[in-house]
Amino acid sequence: MSGRSIGVAVIGAGMAGRAHAAGYRSASTLYMPDLPEVRLVAIADVNREFAADTAKRYGYERAETDWRAIAEARDIDVVSVVVANHLHREIVEGLLAGGKHVLCEKPLAPSIEDAEAMIAAAERSRGRVAAVGFTFRRSPAIAAIKEQVRRGGIGRPIHFNGHYWSDYGCDPRGPISWRYKGGPGSGALSDVGSHLLDAGEFICGPIRSIRGAVLSTVITERPVPLGTVVGHAAAAAISDEREPVENEDLVTFTATFASGATGTFSASRVAFGLPNSLAFELFAEKGAATFDLDRAGEFGFADGAPEAATNGYRQVLAGPSHPYFAKGMAMDFPGCNYSQNDLFVFQARAFLEQIAGLNRLPPCPSLEDGLRNLRLIAAVVRSAQSGREVPVG
Ligand SMILES: NC(=O)c1ccc[n+]([C@@H]2O[C@H](COP(=O)([O-])OP(=O)(O)OC[C@H]3O[C@@H](n4cnc5c(N)ncnc54)[C@H](O)[C@@H]3O)[C@@H](O)[C@H]2O)c1
Repeated sequence: MSGRSIGVAVIGAGMAGRAHAAGYRSASTLYMPDLPEVRLVAIADVNREFAADTAKRYGYERAETDWRAIAEARDIDVVSVVVANHLHREIVEGLLAGGKHVLCEKPLAPSIEDAEAMIAAAERSRGRVAAVGFTFRRSPAIAAIKEQVRRGGIGRPIHFNGHYWSDYGCDPRGPISWRYKGGPGSGALSDVGSHLLDAGEFICGPIRSIRGAVLSTVITERPVPLGTVVGHAAAAAISDEREPVENEDLVTFTATFASGATGTFSASRVAFGLPNSLAFELFAEKGAATFDLDRAGEFGFADGAPEAATNGYRQVLAGPSHPYFAKGMAMDFPGCNYSQNDLFVFQARAFLEQIAGLNRLPPCPSLEDGLRNLRLIAAVVRSAQSGREVPVG
């Protein structure tokens, strides 16, 4: 920290970069008002216009076009890395060498080798905090379900069935971007499936093996854009030139958890009509829970508590008795909803508390957690390629 304040920067001003920028802006309004002063210092993006717009919109002091300016800046302590996955390693290593605390987006890197090098860089960094952004761990509803499992009231999980379906790849005129490059596993599996895998392990514990994986590429080439592509959105104009799609549009697989529970998973970017559908059902020995991101502020829950005449699934509205909610929302009573955007605020707050040594919220997942997630992705790919059950190693 620079004295008694924390200087913050975000690298990448695309779809998720803006969510990080907004997250740090709101983070000091949450919970106890005892966070050191948070200075919103810089937004960096190779696209000058994006950097300037995001800096102005969210109240950051300056815009940069080169991440190295962030690594070298003396007034910056904490940096989110929110660019394409193949850029994570170089930037994270450079930031750690420059003495910054780093929150890197998921998936941590395109390869296990890259992730191991990033972990080594963190170890060399003399106490800098390096973390990965599995944002959904900050969902009050998902964290509440995890807590019910941890307490043991619904018994041992038996079956986790989850999907993360999105439709951003449905239109064949949707232009090629970094999301469609990088080989098997780097498509829907890494982009949205990484969140689902992390949620599955967050709730049910480690996955032991993967089998029955299928990777499918439905749209095999895409047009080259004439302009800039941001996030999942289509560019305004496309050229006649086309490039091959290098990774999967959808993936399905079965997992066995170390506990013996079964997991059934699918992830897609060609799920027509579903822009952002993360949902799961969890069945345990003595109860069950459901979650659907379309109704982010609630979860379904069933156990043996109510009398038989009124027993069944009940709708639980997230509220102050669940994680992150009390004083995490301006109006913090059940029914005052939150969205995926708020999870970035909870995450930013947790990361800043970690840097400030307050240690009240669960720490952000570590780079080792990011590597673990990549090992799961690699096992899914090996299962698809070999047709065999693959241990997660
Ligand atoms: N946690 C989540 O819920 C979530 C959601 C979306 C994306 N993500 C992750 O965030 C990352 C970024 O995804 P996105 O959708 O925001 O991508 P995006 O393509 O919308 O934005 C990336 C931005 O990086 C900029 N950029 C490219 N090269 C750069 C460089 N060398 N230095 C600085 N800026 C550079 C681009 O100009 C662009 O503005 C990915 O790792 C993705 O997986 C996470």
